[in-house]
Amino acid sequence: MKIFTTRQLPDPVLKTLKIEGATVNLWQEKRELTKEEFIENAKDAEGLFVMGGFKITEEIIHALPDLKVISLMSVGYDNVDIKAVTKRGIGVGHTPDVLSQATADTAFLLMLATSRKAFYHHKRILDGNWKFFDPMANVGIDIRNKTLGVFGLGNIGFEMAKLCKNAYGMDVIYHNRSNNEQAEKELGAKKVSFDELLEQSDIISVHANLTPETKEVFNASAFAKMKPNAIFVNAGRGGIHNETDLRAALENETIWGAGLDVTNPEPMDKDNPLLSMPNVSVLPHIGSAVKETREAMLELATRNILAGLKGEKLPACVNPEVYNK
Ligand code: DGY
Repeated sequence: MKIFTTRQLPDPVLKTLKIEGATVNLWQEKRELTKEEFIENAKDAEGLFVMGGFKITEEIIHALPDLKVISLMSVGYDNVDIKAVTKRGIGVGHTPDVLSQATADTAFLLMLATSRKAFYHHKRILDGNWKFFDPMANVGIDIRNKTLGVFGLGNIGFEMAKLCKNAYGMDVIYHNRSNNEQAEKELGAKKVSFDELLEQSDIISVHANLTPETKEVFNASAFAKMKPNAIFVNAGRGGIHNETDLRAALENETIWGAGLDVTNPEPMDKDNPLLSMPNVSVLPHIGSAVKETREAMLELATRNILAGLKGEKLPACVNPEVYNK
């Protein structure tokens, strides 16, 4: 059982894999591989343990003849060509559920930080600009009893909605393909059209997958429909918003603020103008970065890869249709 992994794995994970009889080829450098390096290192792999957003394209799949399973240490799988992989009968594992609360916490943090311009005020101290008390300078906005609009009410969106409802008595509306009956029952959440979500929300929180349907749906025309006091939060994928349009909407005061855990591209350039806007909070994609959560993700990703290598069903599989063949 040969595994290639794109990051150093913690010792307990390596030990488990070894006990199970797997040999692991590790990419040790602290930089993303090129496509050529990936193919060279993974060419005889039966399993891929993928951390980070490295793109697994059809070309890569073709170059790995022994591949049986791909295990992602993420819930998102937009970096994998699922169609090509499924055609080859390769199972793709991911890590849903175990990261929902930690990721929702990050969205909540960004919402609150943005509403109080917290990152900007921190920078103000660093820049030596904490001089004197000016009662109305750079004040925030109150988010109590406002309307939260969740774009993509799956497990993470549900956790975010619970936090907002319980902490601030927010009304919850959401836009999804399917109804979320649990959220409707427990939180009184209401499913609305995309336009209604834009028009009625005081905070929009994005938790959807990046797909051809969601790519850049938050663009100039969407921001134009939002309230001028609205805060846009994205803890899903940077590709769901158009960054140029978002910047313009903030500069023109079409919307009030933005909190981003994900950007497009990643990493964000340190000179990106969004980073110096008072009403913008940006984090470097740390959604699930909590020790306990990362350990739970590694554990599930390890179970996924071992199951795939042994020809068993993956405990958390993105493309279960591979088992129907
Ligand atoms: C996820 O799990 O999808 C996170 O965004 C990390 O990529």
